[in-house]
Amino acid sequence: MKNIVLIGFMGAGKSTVAEAFHRTRGMEVVEMDARIAENEGMTIPEIFREKGEPYFRDLETGLLVELQKQENVVISCGGGVPLRERNVAEMKKNGTVIWLAASARTILERVKDSHDRPLLEGNKNLAYIENMLESRREKYEAAADLIIWTDGKTAEQICEEIVEQMKRQGGLCVG
Ligand code: S3P
Repeated sequence: MKNIVLIGFMGAGKSTVAEAFHRTRGMEVVEMDARIAENEGMTIPEIFREKGEPYFRDLETGLLVELQKQENVVISCGGGVPLRERNVAEMKKNGTVIWLAASARTILERVKDSHDRPLLEGNKNLAYIENMLESRREKYEAAADLIIWTDGKTAEQICEEIVEQMKRQGGLCVG
């Protein structure tokens, strides 16, 4: 069975949708940030602060390669994973890449109370998020096999939509 690789901006709902796949379809979930933090014995903000962003980005690439050994997994990628060309190639080897798209307003609403995203600390306002989202849009689009809009939908609805679209594409691996 093919893996499902969820990409998208911070707060797009990747973790929540991955969790819904686990709950409704019993798929194993790999949360890249959590796995990296566990492997390093540090939180994501600590890795950024003490080792720097390029170090963190290399860990993301390494993990994508490692995950190619697994099947029937939903991989919830950190929001910056598709920014590297190499990562896009590694994601494609992992499975079907799905961009969970959301508006800047929805994203702001979802991230405003959390403090585990170093790139948004002190920048949680609509203009900043709109700008960053715009600068990444092309990369997300280029990496995606499927694009799903998430605004106003529940995780279960998004899950069903993904399954339907994958069926239509002939790439169904679940259900
Ligand atoms: C990042 C997204 C975060 C995390 C890190 C960098 C990004 O993951 O990997 O803070 O560059 O977009 P989430 O998308 O799960 O918040």
